[in-house]
Amino acid sequence: MKKTILITWWTGYIWSHGVVAFEQAGYKTVIVDNLVNSSKTSLEGIKKILGYQVDFFELDLRNKDALREVFQKYDFDGVLHFAGLKSPGESQKEALYYFDNNIWGSMSLFEVMNEFWVKKIVFSSSANTYSTQNNPPIKETDIQDTTNPYGTTKLLIEKILRDLSNCNAFQVVNLRYFNPIWAHSSGNIWEEPEWIPNNLFPFIFKVLTGELKELSVYGDDYKTIDGTGIRDYIDVVDLIDAHLKAYKLLETQKENIWYNEVFNVGTWQWLSVLQAIQAVEKVVGKKVNYKIVDRREGDIPISYCDTTKINNRLWFQAQVSLEKSIENMWRFYTHNQK
Ligand code: UD1
Repeated sequence: MKKTILITWWTGYIWSHGVVAFEQAGYKTVIVDNLVNSSKTSLEGIKKILGYQVDFFELDLRNKDALREVFQKYDFDGVLHFAGLKSPGESQKEALYYFDNNIWGSMSLFEVMNEFWVKKIVFSSSANTYSTQNNPPIKETDIQDTTNPYGTTKLLIEKILRDLSNCNAFQVVNLRYFNPIWAHSSGNIWEEPEWIPNNLFPFIFKVLTGELKELSVYGDDYKTIDGTGIRDYIDVVDLIDAHLKAYKLLETQKENIWYNEVFNVGTWQWLSVLQAIQAVEKVVGKKVNYKIVDRREGDIPISYCDTTKINNRLWFQAQVSLEKSIENMWRFYTHNQK
């Protein structure tokens, strides 16, 4: 019989891929989402790929009673917990809103999981939980500290889960994402942010399609190869593969015995902003209109991770080349042009 997994999914883009990957790997998935930052259109995309509809419930995790009803309907084996607001910039303006959503939403989920004796959980954490004092490549053992409320919510939830492992026999894998970039090669899953994107790649593509005039490159005076910021970009297909492997790791653990593990999820390949622009220009064959402006407040110069632990323990290795990611993203942006 198929194992059933609950996916908490407030922002959609990553978990559309996750749902497809877990269904294709033989699990039954059930999605809960309050649709604050996403829409049901990704469900249509998922249906086109899978050929059937997945079970979906529109609910807010903080609504414990509604959540209980879902837990009553299914015999969940475990949970993939992605739900949460995810913009560091926004979180600085809306700290209490972030704490309320991310912390209380998670607390309510953990409480209901515990009531129904569902203990396995893969938690989507973030590179935002690392202190800016660390020297890249960042290791899992490096110092954790945060610079914004979003990061603080992720760090606190990691700590809560650590205690729930100790006290309530939760079995936990925390995945600290570096910079996910996303598009699905089928062309069917896509969730276009309605607002002007903050992230580099979506911005570059919107400039290329003519929707935005030019890209602002935030600073060229960092101590990096060309003065621009360096990041570790990981394709969403690889990111989801890490989740599948993380879940399988949980399945190898003895029932009712606590477990808590953490992995960086990145590629260890770093890329500057100018290198990213050049890579896109090469694949797409068009020039990106950009100008150098001042540094963006709160940006760190260099962020990339040491992937030794996830490579060795989960046998995980990022597979999708940057060129392939760019091709897929470009297909989406042109596919979505009216
Ligand atoms: C942001 C989030 C982080 C999230 C990550 C991936 C912040 C502080 N952090 O990180 O939590 O995990 O996205 O979703 O927002 N850049 C430009 N021009 C632009 C946009 C970006 O030059 O218009 C530069 C940035 O200065 C940076 C690099 O591109 O050097 C990547 O930026 P971005 O995609 O926003 O990611 P992060 O800042 O790493």
